[in-house]
Amino acid sequence: MSKKTIHPAKVVAGGVVPPGDKSISHRYAMLAGIAEGVSELTNFALAADCHSTLNCMKALGAEVKVDKGLVRVTGHGLHGLKASKRALDAGNSGTTIRLLSGILAGQNFTSKIAGDDSLNKRPMKRILTPLREMGAQILARDENFAPLEIRGGKLRGIHYEMPMASAQVKSAVLLAGLFAEGGTGVTEPARTRDHTELALEEFGVSVERHGLVTRIHGNGIKLTGRKIEVPGDLSSAVFFIAAASLFPESSLHIQGVGLNPTRTAILDVFARMGASIQIIPLVIDELPMLAALGPFTEAGIEIRDAAELRIKESDRIAALAENLRRMGAKVEEFPDGLKVAGRTAGKLRGAVIEPHGDHRIAMAFAVAALGAEGPTTIRDAQCAGVSYPTFYDDLARVAE
Ligand code: S3P
Repeated sequence: MSKKTIHPAKVVAGGVVPPGDKSISHRYAMLAGIAEGVSELTNFALAADCHSTLNCMKALGAEVKVDKGLVRVTGHGLHGLKASKRALDAGNSGTTIRLLSGILAGQNFTSKIAGDDSLNKRPMKRILTPLREMGAQILARDENFAPLEIRGGKLRGIHYEMPMASAQVKSAVLLAGLFAEGGTGVTEPARTRDHTELALEEFGVSVERHGLVTRIHGNGIKLTGRKIEVPGDLSSAVFFIAAASLFPESSLHIQGVGLNPTRTAILDVFARMGASIQIIPLVIDELPMLAALGPFTEAGIEIRDAAELRIKESDRIAALAENLRRMGAKVEEFPDGLKVAGRTAGKLRGAVIEPHGDHRIAMAFAVAALGAEGPTTIRDAQCAGVSYPTFYDDLARVAE
């Protein structure tokens, strides 16, 4: 599938079961790989990103068997990983490279890890700083980019005051903390998704949490293989909530979605739709969809304080502005966000969309296309598979 044509719809109806949660699947795959014994992960994400994580764990010596949504991982304990013969490939996945770097920092071998062109342009200094402070030696291109060469070794616990709100940075430090002497903690400037903390607890590690402070104690830790079900991905469900919200007659039943409170802020945003949104990290992945809904709202949407969007899988602010304009929307772009005019600026028209290889841009515009005049073509449409391989089929089933 190189491109996909989406035709306008009149209503969205029926049921969708979004795939397993991407964030949670990554964490279960990594922890299962350093746990003792067999883990059975059901409803594991179909997302290509999570399969990058599974392939890395396999290359590091965990046994991994995949049978559709059922993934069986046999780990050999906290010190059971082995050096990979080849450089590890994180594909398009920031979560894979940043979280795994925390684990690799604590190994007694050297690893190389890199990803695709997009990932190799995303900043890694944010994890290098705390991991080096813990004692890891890491080489990076221009001190900030993959490929990374991680010379693992003895780590010491630190307390890291995070300069940015990032679940990936928090997780990298906590995972390195599993291998460190003494306690390891982080203070976040704002709350971010807590899937690493919860997954660590699932696998038997005790985690101390007080407000924005999280700590673990590295000594004598043991992770035990588990049977766990991954809940459905709310960030994938959001595309369908958005699609349904375009048409007043819609009625959509979305099943099996995880409602972890560090992810559900987006539901409140939908409830307040049309207001200007000051961005909080808890909705960061849903902003492309919200921005693309802007032209369908009464008052438009203004997103500010979200410069992080420029260093995601694509420069999402630029990609949103470009493609919204292609569909005829009125857009103002700022260094830290964008302002999209509402319904009074006119109806969107079908256009050719360039997602810049970014799954969430492709899916956001496929949804916006349902409410446009005339067909829309999404170029390079298969990039949606990074998080949601069956997205277009699911969308076609509910959009009439
Ligand atoms: C993720 C954290 C977020 C999010 C990403 C997944 C995670 O990134 O945007 O899609 O699974 O921890 P940051 O930590 O860079 O904010």
